[in-house]
Amino acid sequence: MRPIILAGNWKMYKTQAEALAFLEQFLPLIAETAHQVILGVPFTSLGGLAVRLPATVHLAAQNIHWADFGAFTGEVSGPMLREVDVSHVIIGHSERRQYFGETDATVNLRLKAAQHHGLTPILCVGETKAQRDAQATEAVIFSQLEQDLVGVDQQKLIIAYEPIWAIGTGDTCATLEANRVIGLIRSRLTHSDVPIQYGGSVKPENIDEIMAQPEIDGVLVGGASLEATSFARIVNYGSVCR
Ligand code: PGA
Repeated sequence: MRPIILAGNWKMYKTQAEALAFLEQFLPLIAETAHQVILGVPFTSLGGLAVRLPATVHLAAQNIHWADFGAFTGEVSGPMLREVDVSHVIIGHSERRQYFGETDATVNLRLKAAQHHGLTPILCVGETKAQRDAQATEAVIFSQLEQDLVGVDQQKLIIAYEPIWAIGTGDTCATLEANRVIGLIRSRLTHSDVPIQYGGSVKPENIDEIMAQPEIDGVLVGGASLEATSFARIVNYGSVCR
């Protein structure tokens, strides 16, 4: 059985004080969840949150370098993340690919480094609006998977399907279409139990419909994970948030 994984991606939001205030409000709201919850937070908040999290809530970094150490200004390594009890790493997010020169080759190096250090990567794949309009969605995603997953252990992996046109736009991918693409992604994998999330304008209003889809094993949430009651409602999907 594939696990259900609800992950928040805070991107470059929240100071450490703001992160701790979020946690104080958030934890009581999700105390009864049976699902895996992951908070993907800025590096500066990892250490402070790590010592305050219950066993059901995990920490993700938003990047990892492939070397253990070295002259790589601005990067962070696996041993550094392990030291602060990080368990997951978001890799290949479209914002990294678009704004910071991330390529499938560097995504592949980061994925392997994460696994080498016992961290579970959340690999993001997805197409632009232009690629979708040109009927290239499948080709783009299959190419990303093929290059990104060389030498990667699929038994220690999470994938997030994030259509780029749906990220931060309020324009959620139709749930049946997200389910279809995620099914296609699964058909390309050698290990069919890889949890595959949907990401892109997930919010309290659409979480129940998204999670009702059989191929969708969870969500990667940006904007709606920044507010405790909103992300708690997403984690507690299918029930009313207290
Ligand atoms: P969004 O972001 O939920 O704000 O659309 C999702 C993401 O970038 O992972």
